Amino acid sequence: MKNFTYLRYKTLGSTNQKLYQLAKNNFPEFTVVSTEHQTSGKGQRGSTWESSANENLTFSFLLRFDDFPSHEAHLISIWVSIYLQKFLSDCHIESKIKWPNDIIIHQKKAGGILIENQIQGQKIQFAVVGIGLNVYQKNFQGLKKATSIQNEFPEFSKGLKNFEMNLINFLFENHKKLKPENKNNLYQSYNQQLLGFQKINTFEQNGVCFSGIIYGIDEHGRLLVKREKSEVIEIFDIKEISLIY
Ligand code: BTN
Repeated sequence: MKNFTYLRYKTLGSTNQKLYQLAKNNFPEFTVVSTEHQTSGKGQRGSTWESSANENLTFSFLLRFDDFPSHEAHLISIWVSIYLQKFLSDCHIESKIKWPNDIIIHQKKAGGILIENQIQGQKIQFAVVGIGLNVYQKNFQGLKKATSIQNEFPEFSKGLKNFEMNLINFLFENHKKLKPENKNNLYQSYNQQLLGFQKINTFEQNGVCFSGIIYGIDEHGRLLVKREKSEVIEIFDIKEISLIY
């Protein structure tokens, strides 16, 4: 049952940016900002997110917390990755989560998540969770590893508006599962959908490639990898390593 504020704009620079302003102006929990055409989309680590008008989903929603420690921030990313992947799976769109939170279909990136937190003291006051999901876009201007749902599943033909509303409802229905007490369940579900989990993968670290097995994530959301021919499981932070896929 829908019970949230939904704001739809024809054009916006960034849904995350807009919602962050609204959050500071006391808009309620689970306010959603969505746009047909996002012109200055923000990606992870200062990158941009390009999305052609009326072909994809670009929206953000607001989570507010009373008592969510900032050292558990990674749980937000884990939770949203799990439920986005699960929603797609329920729609018969098989995908994987590439650590930490990319949505991969057939070895290409179809979706990205950007979370921006407002922290006070040691607590997260609110989080703006932005989702970009490529649905009908055909061309990605030379981005070899980018794709859309329809590029990978040509039979996919759901109306974009309906698809978006179903996804938002699904996230809304499940957002109470995002709590530190539930972290072991979240880690377990996350690992099961993690690209390359318990398999040999190629990684790049400081320009050097190596092979290793992914053992999942630790309690801080860092990636656990055992290099081939090594007995030691190493722990990697987001900036330290990238998975070649
Ligand atoms: C990534 O780099 O993988 C994250 C991309 C996140 C893009 C989404 S689109 C909706 C929301 N608004 C933004 O400006 N970015 C996020």
